[in-house]
Amino acid sequence: MFKKPLIILIAMASWLSFHAAHADNRSVVWLSADQKSAFLQEMREFMSASQQILEASLADDMNRVEKAAREVGIKMINNTPASLKAKLPPGMMKLGPATHRGFEDIANEAETLGDKNEILHKLATLQKNCIACHQAYQIKVAAPKSLKPIQ
Ligand code: HEC
Repeated sequence: MFKKPLIILIAMASWLSFHAAHADNRSVVWLSADQKSAFLQEMREFMSASQQILEASLADDMNRVEKAAREVGIKMINNTPASLKAKLPPGMMKLGPATHRGFEDIANEAETLGDKNEILHKLATLQKNCIACHQAYQIKVAAPKSLKPIQ
């Protein structure tokens, strides 16, 4: 007859431990819906460039390495709107540009010496920025002021 409360108790305990283990403690960066989609688009380009650099390096195709890396290099820093930069915390403003510079560096290496091992080494190092930033931040969409309920 005590079975039901026991089952409920176990269910509650496992729900609590699941949520404690999966609590998202990363700092929240609030963006508009458009800014979020532009930001994530840039992320997908990072992912794609990283894959292309690996594949092209393995094929010893330095032209392709250069092209893929240059696309996400410093020109992307200049393309980021000031209104978006203004919302990014200092930690992100360090890791973001450092990542773009890392890709620019890979593009330069591919264009000049084209040492495959050096390129793989640079990519492995710059991907630590991806990991550090993903561990520290998450993005949420802030409702536009006009949609806030009247107090
Ligand atoms: C300056 C911080 C920062 C750096 C550096 C960074 N990211 Fe991200 N990335 C984020 C944040 C924040 C999100 C959203 C995470 C969330 O809200 O859960 C994200 C999301 C993503 C996503 C998901 C995209 C989608 O459509 O949902 C991919 C893929 C990604 N990043 C790849 C990368 C790769 C690859 C690198 C490195 C070459 C990288 N990121 C570097 C901050 C960063």
